[in-house]
Amino acid sequence: MTSKTRAMANAVPMTNVTISDAAELLRTGHLVALPTETVYGLGANALDDTAVAKIYAAKNRPQFNPLIVHLPDIFEVSKYAVMDPRAQKIAEAFWPGPLSLVLKRTDTCALSPLVSSGLETVALRVPASESASRLLRAADVPVAAPSANKSGMLSPTEAQHVADAFGDEVAIVLDDGPCAVGLESTVLDLSTDQATLLRAGGISLEDLTEVLDKPVAVAGHDDFAPKSPGMLSRHYAPQTPLRMNAENREDGEAVLGFGSPVTGEHANLSPTGDLVEAAANLFRMLHALDADGHSGIAVRPIPEDGLGSAINDRLRRAELG
Ligand code: TXA
Ligand code: MG
Repeated sequence: MTSKTRAMANAVPMTNVTISDAAELLRTGHLVALPTETVYGLGANALDDTAVAKIYAAKNRPQFNPLIVHLPDIFEVSKYAVMDPRAQKIAEAFWPGPLSLVLKRTDTCALSPLVSSGLETVALRVPASESASRLLRAADVPVAAPSANKSGMLSPTEAQHVADAFGDEVAIVLDDGPCAVGLESTVLDLSTDQATLLRAGGISLEDLTEVLDKPVAVAGHDDFAPKSPGMLSRHYAPQTPLRMNAENREDGEAVLGFGSPVTGEHANLSPTGDLVEAAANLFRMLHALDADGHSGIAVRPIPEDGLGSAINDRLRRAELG
């Protein structure tokens, strides 16, 4: 069987049966490609660290860019993010639709820290596509989904693009024909007092400004380079100084291990050296060690292959503080 025929085998039309299969696959930690009105997304259960880590592995992303979490309706949003009156107004005007809002995570937010790249914010979207809503309702879990393309490739607007790119790396590709908008969602940051457009898209700057009745800033290249959103200037860094590739432990330091445990370790990203597991644990363990009052965090060496380069990218930024 050629890779093409194998790839085509898992793009299926949306029916009650395939939606319910895909919903079950999502709930049990598998990757599901789903249609939205903007582009096809590579979805995973946003409550499940390992499922979210699989997205980065499949996309070959060299960095942990934060992901958009998809919800079936506006009422779900306040479970995860703080909706101030501005966000409420914008949500009422544009949701469901091609708009993602970056908001502060609530104190009790159960979403994986990996969807936020460890930040205190999360991007949320209520898609307008009826197919996406049906799946989200059936799955009954929030779904993290970047565009379903390999890193550096074009965003997919047809199921076949996804099947060709991912083949059996994704459990199922739901086919709902070409996407109506065909362009990614607008990303608006409302996590600070100044509303800021992070990415232009389906909803225009003028429309947003009109509803907010206030000027919207447009993120400059320092904050957001359109070609490499991973260069986002705001990134998670622990308060505690961090040291990578540590071969020893200095006084007062916590050791964050990887692979076979060493004596005196405080936590281990993956005792078996599994990079997907390590990615799933990364932000949670860094946050926990950071809160413990150590004088430093010494991270054991992590190989640069696969997800290792995204993990090391984050650690490098954390090392710089
Ligand atoms: O239309 C879309 O938005 C599609 C469909 C599948 O919903 N998704 C999509 O996701 O384009 P992705 O991962 O390719 O782009 C998400 C964008 C990135 O530029 C990312 O940096 C930004 O949203 N983003 C996500 N969470 C963020 C956060 N907490 N703070 C700042 N930017 C964030
Ligand atoms: Mg993308």
